[in-house]
Parts: sequence; structure tokens; C-alpha cells
Amino acid sequence: MVLVTGGAGYIGSHTCIELAQAGYDFVVYDNLCNSSQEALKRVEKITGKKISFIHGDIRDKEALQKVFDTYKIDSVIHFAGLKAVGESVENPLEYYDNNVYGTIALCEVMQKNNCKKIIFSSSATVYGNPKTTPIKENFPLSATNPYGRSKLFIEEILRDIFVSDNKYKIILLRYFNPVGAHKSGLIGEDPNGIPNNLMPFIAQVAVGKRKHLNVFGNDYNTVDGTGVRDYIHVVDLAKGHVQALKKIDALNDVLTVNLGTGKGYSVLEMAQAFQKVSGKKIAYKIASRRLGDIAKCYADPSYAKEVLDWKTVHTIDEMCEDIWRWQSMNPDGYNI
Ligand code: NAD
Ligand code: UFG
Repeated sequence: MVLVTGGAGYIGSHTCIELAQAGYDFVVYDNLCNSSQEALKRVEKITGKKISFIHGDIRDKEALQKVFDTYKIDSVIHFAGLKAVGESVENPLEYYDNNVYGTIALCEVMQKNNCKKIIFSSSATVYGNPKTTPIKENFPLSATNPYGRSKLFIEEILRDIFVSDNKYKIILLRYFNPVGAHKSGLIGEDPNGIPNNLMPFIAQVAVGKRKHLNVFGNDYNTVDGTGVRDYIHVVDLAKGHVQALKKIDALNDVLTVNLGTGKGYSVLEMAQAFQKVSGKKIAYKIASRRLGDIAKCYADPSYAKEVLDWKTVHTIDEMCEDIWRWQSMNPDGYNI
């Protein structure tokens, strides 16, 4: 049985579908601080399977112990965490408490219950401002904000756990920029308030919730001066977790893998792709650079192909189509 922390969230809910369809038994543990149980109801609708859900916080070791008492957990996919970069700068202690302490509490309960397999949601943010692209897993690591640092610390903590006991099976998945939604249009990304991320913002411009997109800088050294990122369809990303689970038993060291497409697209290219697919004009204004942003970030995904036998299949047109379907079917997200 797999424990999926943060399984009601954006990436977690899409991963639940893939796990269910691959025949895995799992239980979702989430405090719903940034998600809705409605997402899991929709996962049930899509998969035709009942999803076991426990409402709880990863920092609550007693509640976690009850989950281990109730279910025979042999591995953990650990999505639970806070992810807003700006918020982490304003409130670093909350981020270290939730993300770093939360992971320590989870690992303590795992250790007590002899559960030694964990797949962790890391991020391309751990590469800081890379000197060159595409980015390989052995590039130097750094962080420019508490969110990124929480990911770096957790990676180090998990590596130390392996050093202390090499029976652990640990996979650190470094996601690039997850976007898109499930083909059904029933689940997708449902940000609170004004979206920080590009694609949810563009989608809200398309449905008329926001007047225009602010393009954060057009003077970067990129194809058109706007920032370049590796946008990865969330369903491809979700499938990466199933592959990781399939491979985890054979590991004899901590495995660190980029999950990206290997292709970078600029802000304007993404806006254009969305405009084409949705038929809606995406009005934009050039604004100043956003603090902490980098010019270019895209993965070398070849190691993922080699060790996980995984690569992305969805194009940016599909990413835009699927966001558009989700956004137009659910203009208010899960707040139905
Ligand atoms: P999300 O906010 O949609 O999902 C995270 C889930 O964790 C939410 O359902 C939230 O309620 C839950 N959660 C948070 N703190 C918790 C706690 N203390 N106890 C129990 N549950 C808790 O975010 P997401 O986009 O699905 O991201 C999942 C993971 O992937 C996060 O760890 C995030 O940092 C990481 N990640 C995300 C991105 C991205 O751009 N979306 C990129 C790289 C890495
Ligand atoms: N952008 C705009 N206008 C907006 C929002 C974004 O121009 O309103 C630009 C940004 O400047 C950047 C690109 O669009 O060039 C992508 O920005 P996002 O905020 O969507 O994504 P980031 O690459 O900044 O960061 C994301 C996650 C981080 C994660 C990182 C790497 O938000 O948590 O990807 O995985 F660490």
C-alpha cells in the first residue's frame, strides 16, 4: 500500500489517477490547506475506484501513526508541502516548519514502522541560476528563497537517512514547470487568489477573470527576451511517479532525476500557443522583471529515460487544450 501525502493537490490528484489505473492500492493523506476533497471525488469518477482519504497534517505524528496502524504502508509518495515562492520569503518559518519539519516527522513515523521507500517532490528550483542549459542532475545546487531552500534541505536530509541505513530506497524527482490538466476536464490546477504561475494566469485572462497578462521582463537573453521554461504536462509528470514506484525496489543508491521535456518555451510562445488553442485573445503588457526569476531553465531529460524508462509525450498544444478545457468547464475551480 502506498501512502500519498498531499494527494488531493494538483500533481497529487493527477498521480492518484495514474496509480489507480496502474492497479496500485494507496491512501491519500492531506490537510487540505491548498486543495479540496472535491478533487478526489472527481478522481473517483474518472477511475471508477473508491479513494481512501485521511484528513491530516504530516506534522501530526500521532495521526500519521494511526494511518500506519490502519494500512500496511510499504512506500510513500511525498507531495505534501507549501509551494509559493513569494509567500516563503515573507514567512520563512512557516515554510521550514511545514516542508522541512513536516518531512522529518513523516520520516520518523516511517522509520518507526520500518517503511523505507520514499519518492519526494523536489524542484528544478534547486539548480538556482544555472550557468548553462539543458540542466543535468549533476549541476551545482543552490537556492535563492526559503521555498527552494526547503527543497534543498529535504534532499540533503533524505540523503543522510540513506547514509545511515542503506536499506532505504529514495527517489528525488526534480520537476520542471508542471502545467495542463486531465483530459476529462474534471481535475486541474486550482490556485487560490491571483495565480503566481504563468499558465493559470493566462487561463484566467482567457475566461475573462483577469484583464491582461503581465509579462515579467522582455530583456532576457532568450529567443524573444521573455523567460524560457520547460513546461511539462501534469499527466506525463504523474506517470513519472508510477515509473519511479516500479523501479524503486531495484535501487542501491539515492536516485535523483529531472522530470522535464527537454524543450524550453518563452512566455510569449506560451501565450501564443494558448491563444491559438482557445481562440481567445491573450492581452498582455510588458512589465518589469520579477525578483528572483532566471532567464532560462529547461531539463536534460535523458537520465529519466535511462533509469525510469520514462519520457514525456504531451505537446504544448495539448497542455494548452487541456488547461483550456479544465478552465472553461470549471471557471471557479473546485468552488462549485
Ligand atoms: P498543491 O499545493 O496543489 O499540493 C500540495 C498538497 O499538499 C495540497 O493538497 C496541500 O493541501 C497538501 N499539504 C500541504 N502541507 C501539508 C501538510 N503539512 N500536511 C498534509 N498535507 C499538506 O501543490 P502541487 O503543485 O501539487 O505540488 C506538489 C509537490 O510538488 C509540492 O511539494 C511542491 O513543492 C512540488 N513541486 C511543485 C511544482 C509546481 O510548479 N506545481 C514544481 C516543483 C515541485
Ligand atoms: N511569468 C510572467 N507573468 C506571470 C507569471 C509568470 O511573465 O504572471 C513568467 C515568469 O517570469 C517566468 C515564466 O513566466 O519567466 C514562468 O513563471 P512561473 O511562475 O509559472 O514558474 P517559475 O519557473 O517561476 O517557477 C515554477 C514554480 C516554482 C518551481 C519552479 C521550478 O512556481 O515553485 O517552477 O520547478 F520551483
